[in-house]
Amino acid sequence: MKTVTVNASKQYDIRIGSGLLATLGEAAKQLGKAEKVCIVSDSTVWKLYGEVVQKNLEASGFQVIAYVFPAGESQKNGATLLELLSCLASHQLTRSDLIVALGGGVVGDLAGFAAATYLRGIRFIQVPTTLLAAVDSSVGGKTAIDLPEGKNLVGAFWQPSLVICDTDTLNTLPEDIFRDGCAEVIKYGILYDPDLFAALEHSGMGFDRESVIARCVELKRNVVMEDEFDTGARMKLNLGHTIGHSVEAKSQFTISHGKAVAIGIAIVSRAALCQDCQRILALLRQFSLPIHTDYTAEDLYIHALSDKKRSGSTVNLIIPNGIGDCAITPMNVDQIKSFIEAGL
Ligand SMILES: NC(=O)c1ccc[n+]([C@@H]2O[C@H](COP(=O)([O-])OP(=O)(O)OC[C@H]3O[C@@H](n4cnc5c(N)ncnc54)[C@H](O)[C@@H]3O)[C@@H](O)[C@H]2O)c1
Repeated sequence: MKTVTVNASKQYDIRIGSGLLATLGEAAKQLGKAEKVCIVSDSTVWKLYGEVVQKNLEASGFQVIAYVFPAGESQKNGATLLELLSCLASHQLTRSDLIVALGGGVVGDLAGFAAATYLRGIRFIQVPTTLLAAVDSSVGGKTAIDLPEGKNLVGAFWQPSLVICDTDTLNTLPEDIFRDGCAEVIKYGILYDPDLFAALEHSGMGFDRESVIARCVELKRNVVMEDEFDTGARMKLNLGHTIGHSVEAKSQFTISHGKAVAIGIAIVSRAALCQDCQRILALLRQFSLPIHTDYTAEDLYIHALSDKKRSGSTVNLIIPNGIGDCAITPMNVDQIKSFIEAGL
């Protein structure tokens, strides 16, 4: 097992390793005070791991409630949030009780936002079960729901009290969803860590999960500690995302997040004439991630203008100069279209 400690507005551990679901009850007990735990999960993850987690928490003396919703991004909405909040209230969870978010990024974002808002904030534990959630969404305290007008438009910064990542849960993840998470892993290599990038070139998809997840989490932890509220350095984590979000939105979400991010990374690498462009494209291809799109610069530009990171007439694009050397580059909306065109 590896442990990474985050020292942000809250201090907490992220534990990564095999067999960790079995340690959840005792770990939750060590946080103190709680009597009740509400497990929040989606229908797919609950079927696989719900019983094990519930029994483990009960064995540690907790009264356990479960809130399970249908799997899928479309459920990360206001109606599900209100139903979850009502569930917490009807079971009389108090401010000392706990939420456990058991699932991927959808569960983590929704349960985290419920934890941030119920009784003006209660503690929660992230138990990520997708690679994306393990390396990205479960760490750093961003919580959110979607609106019909766009993804993640309502949310809060609310750090978990603990993250338990049992790498065994990734064994049941469909390969395609695992591959989506790999796009984020590659992103960390390009942003911060040439050694991680080189290790991925060597291992391909068969990388050692515990050590690679721990390294990505460490890198994210460093950024979160520098810029918890996303006003500076944390923006770099957006590499490939501005254009990626445009690809996702344009495809009406038929192209998954990870694949859209891969396309976004490929476009900015080509457009910026990044010195390591060929290595980046080759690694994305090695992981069977796409590096081209049929959408035009006009299509992608329109969506990029609604990017959350836009401020006035400027969008901050993250531009790779080389592996381990990326820059936050403010770009006027007029320049973005020709930049995208250059990278297609
Ligand atoms: N908060 C953040 O910092 C942050 C960062 C990145 C992404 N996100 C959010 O994360 C979400 C995407 O997360 P995701 O890719 O994990 O999607 P997800 O939570 O929808 O999970 C993908 C699918 O995998 C299934 N699944 C999960 N774990 C499984 C397992 N172990 N075995 C079998 N099936 C399993 C789920 O039921 C779901 O159908 C988006 O809503 C995105 O906005 C948040």
